[in-house]
Amino acid sequence: MNALNPRPGPLPNTLQLTDERQLRHLLDVEGLGRPLLEQILDNAESFAGLNDQGVKKVPLLRGKTVANLFFEPSTRTRTTFELAAKRLSADVMSLTMSASSTTKGETLLDTLRNLEAMQCDMFIVRHAEAGAAHFIARHVAPNIAVINAGDGRHAHPTQALLDVFTIRRHKGELSRLRIAIVGDVLHSRVARSEIHALNTLAAGEVRVIGPRTLLPAGVERLGVQVYHDMDEGLRDVDVVIMLRLQRERMQGAFIPSEHEYFQRYGLTEARLALAAPDAIVMHPGPANRGVEITSEVADGPQSVILRQVTYGLSIRMAVMSMVMGVNPKVPA
Ligand code: CP
Repeated sequence: MNALNPRPGPLPNTLQLTDERQLRHLLDVEGLGRPLLEQILDNAESFAGLNDQGVKKVPLLRGKTVANLFFEPSTRTRTTFELAAKRLSADVMSLTMSASSTTKGETLLDTLRNLEAMQCDMFIVRHAEAGAAHFIARHVAPNIAVINAGDGRHAHPTQALLDVFTIRRHKGELSRLRIAIVGDVLHSRVARSEIHALNTLAAGEVRVIGPRTLLPAGVERLGVQVYHDMDEGLRDVDVVIMLRLQRERMQGAFIPSEHEYFQRYGLTEARLALAAPDAIVMHPGPANRGVEITSEVADGPQSVILRQVTYGLSIRMAVMSMVMGVNPKVPA
């Protein structure tokens, strides 16, 4: 395992794509081609229209069963996957793994076999270990699709896709944009997936901003511009994506104190004024107000943080229908 590639094992593309290069599992953005990423975004557009209507349900996944397997805490991802599955008319089980029989010594594979015996069609997996979703995808029955809902500091593909969807909706053509990702990139699965997605989709310029201790060694090899000075890095950007300090993944002291971190890297109204006047502010959540962002900015007119949550529904509906081999035919 190295700083740039925290995933153990080989690249997954033969695992996540069918022979026809359709999505079979969604484990990672890395390696997915531009046409497939654009297809996901375009399919999500048709679901966005549906989500604005009075009747928000379509029968695309009627008769399918989705199991949410969350081994790590989550608010947004878990609930939006659950709601997305319900809007597609699937049956949904949300297991709280801390209250499941894995705590009594049952192995993960035995748990999976039991869920397979209930004729589940899809597993949505969040886990603290990088590679967990890949492991499950390798071991499930061939008819079951696996979607990675965040594994360690490796990948969070649906978050990256909903972030790109948000940028496209609010700022248009990606190739014209300067996008800054700020903060704890080292421990962030979101940043890693976003960088791959933005570069695959030919975004104009992707910057990462943070202290040396919180940027992966050699991060520039991922095709980003590196800044350690926040004011310099924010200058003229169109999109600012703030990241949380991932305390749960830190072993040791990466910053002197939260107070000092806020002084150097906190997004205040004064700092945001250095970006383009119509720049948008994003955050995957959960946000730590007063650590990486002020309430004035998080709740301010340039923030699209809650729109990200809404668009998460559309992206997750698109991905869930695609891994089931269903293309959306959503009534206009
Ligand atoms: N963005 C994100 O993954 O949030 P949750 O941890 O609440 O799911």
